[in-house]
Amino acid sequence: MHIIMLGAPGAGKGTQADILSQEMKLPHIASGDLLRRALEERTDIGLRAESYMDKGELVPDELTITMILERIHRADCARGCIFDGFPRTLHQAEVLEKALGEQGKTIDRAIYLEVPDEELVKRLSGRRLCRTCQTPYHVIGSPPKTPGKCDRCAGVLYQRSDDREETVRGRLAVFCAQTAPVLDYYENQGKLVRINGDLGIEGVAREIVSALKAPTSP
Ligand code: AP5
Ligand code: MG
Repeated sequence: MHIIMLGAPGAGKGTQADILSQEMKLPHIASGDLLRRALEERTDIGLRAESYMDKGELVPDELTITMILERIHRADCARGCIFDGFPRTLHQAEVLEKALGEQGKTIDRAIYLEVPDEELVKRLSGRRLCRTCQTPYHVIGSPPKTPGKCDRCAGVLYQRSDDREETVRGRLAVFCAQTAPVLDYYENQGKLVRINGDLGIEGVAREIVSALKAPTSP
């Protein structure tokens, strides 16, 4: 099963991909997490991506595509995976479809989490992430049991540098301009599932599970 989580910055892609990945025992492949890891490790891809990420712009397709194709060819993806943050351009979607097709696989569902812009800004300004395992928290909505520490692995929590309000607004504009065609791409294939992402975390997770049980439209 190959599932894509789509949505604006802060829509809950990482949060829901994490839940689904545990329930379905499929790897969670988050392009943003892979890029941030590459930057920490000072790899060629990380260094070339840095200035785009800082400004909230999309990293050039050639970098993200190389990184994701390498990731999906690893053994743990044999049964499928949950994509989070990829694809984000029409070109990325087409290359992914072709790469999966070569292995006799395809995308099963693209889940689009819909959340109003003002809620997105609130979510991102209060978000904290575990530096070790990337689990997301929110200072008010879903705080860790011990302030500053991850419940799951006791890693240190930090705030992403692109979560400043002005960068967040830029990221929202980039989503509307560059990722909207990806929604149409999956809608035209009958694979897009729209989910109200403005429910609590568990409510959204329930909606996703029931949507995945429903048959796809022809
Ligand atoms: P990326 O890391 O993918 O960031 P993003 O798409 O901007 O999305 P976020 O990670 O900010 O939000 P999310 O939807 O995962 O929300 P989360 O679950 O954390 O990309 C970062 C950058 O990398 C890009 O700007 C670009 O430069 C580059 N990049 C990455 N992929 C690329 C690609 N394919 N092509 C080119 N460039 C690429 O939740 C947010 C907060 O809300 C958390 O605090 C959470 O606890 C809370 N929350 C979640 N759900 C709920 C809920 N239902 N109710 C209340 N609070 C909630
Ligand atoms: Mg994320």
